[in-house]
Amino acid sequence: MTPTIIGAGRVGLALAKIAKTAPHARGQSWSKAQPGPLIVCTRNDDLAGVIQATPPTRRADLVFIQNGMIAPLLKEHGLLQNTQALVYFAVSAKGREPVDGGGTVVFGPWAQEFQSLLGQASLGCTVVDSQSFQRQMVEKLLWNCVFGLLCQRHSASVGTLVQAHRPEIHALNDELQGVAERALDLQLQPGVVQRLCDYSLKIADYKGAVKELPWRNGWFLAQEHSPLHSQWLQELTAQ
Ligand SMILES: NC(=O)c1ccc[n+]([C@@H]2O[C@H](COP(=O)([O-])OP(=O)(O)OC[C@H]3O[C@@H](n4cnc5c(N)ncnc54)[C@H](OP(=O)(O)O)[C@@H]3O)[C@@H](O)[C@H]2O)c1
Repeated sequence: MTPTIIGAGRVGLALAKIAKTAPHARGQSWSKAQPGPLIVCTRNDDLAGVIQATPPTRRADLVFIQNGMIAPLLKEHGLLQNTQALVYFAVSAKGREPVDGGGTVVFGPWAQEFQSLLGQASLGCTVVDSQSFQRQMVEKLLWNCVFGLLCQRHSASVGTLVQAHRPEIHALNDELQGVAERALDLQLQPGVVQRLCDYSLKIADYKGAVKELPWRNGWFLAQEHSPLHSQWLQELTAQ
């Protein structure tokens, strides 16, 4: 089944090439798209517009691949059970081939189709259940928020943070993990910091930053003004 690809940016072009189809760029309607998954390859800020532009009868087919905390938006539109993926391949520029970092997971009604699409380009992907997905989503969110903030705070790569600033990684992660576990009423598997550090060492030269604030660090702030997180974010914005 050929998927419909929404968005002709880095990921959209890469997935469209794998699927041997043309992506739908901004301004091109997908309201008459053929049956099958509608893979949304836009940024988080454009998600609400994409949902609204999708006929209500097709919204259950939307597949979300965005980083960050999109669950409140999906809940607002009744789409929490839609197919969602945590993507661990990277496309650095339009037209570039995806580079697999390993660990991509997907859950939901179109999960098998998404997995088999990635498989056509030898990109790994595991189908998981929604509980496992939620825990892994929170871990990825923690990685983005903890390492993003600390990379900026120390003007350092993620690898340098692991070597030189591990106590700060521990302190910030423990604080934010607690916020997430309380807000979402879940418990992550023991060993989160170790897993986040192991992942960082795989892409040691990557330099994160505080990005997409409302979808990342801002979500934690909206739950609780926890002390370290609030203070270190404030120090960055005061610079
Ligand atoms: N790149 C990666 O390696 C990577 C890895 C993991 C996850 N992701 C996630 O994947 C998502 C897409 O990332 P990306 O790197 O591909 O972003 P990108 O290069 O900025 O591409 C996003 C594309 O979506 C288009 N778009 C926005 N609203 C649209 C609409 N209503 N209809 C059709 N197209 C629309 C944008 O068009 P305009 O240019 O007109 O705005 C742009 O071409 C992000 O949420 C990102 O977090 C990316």
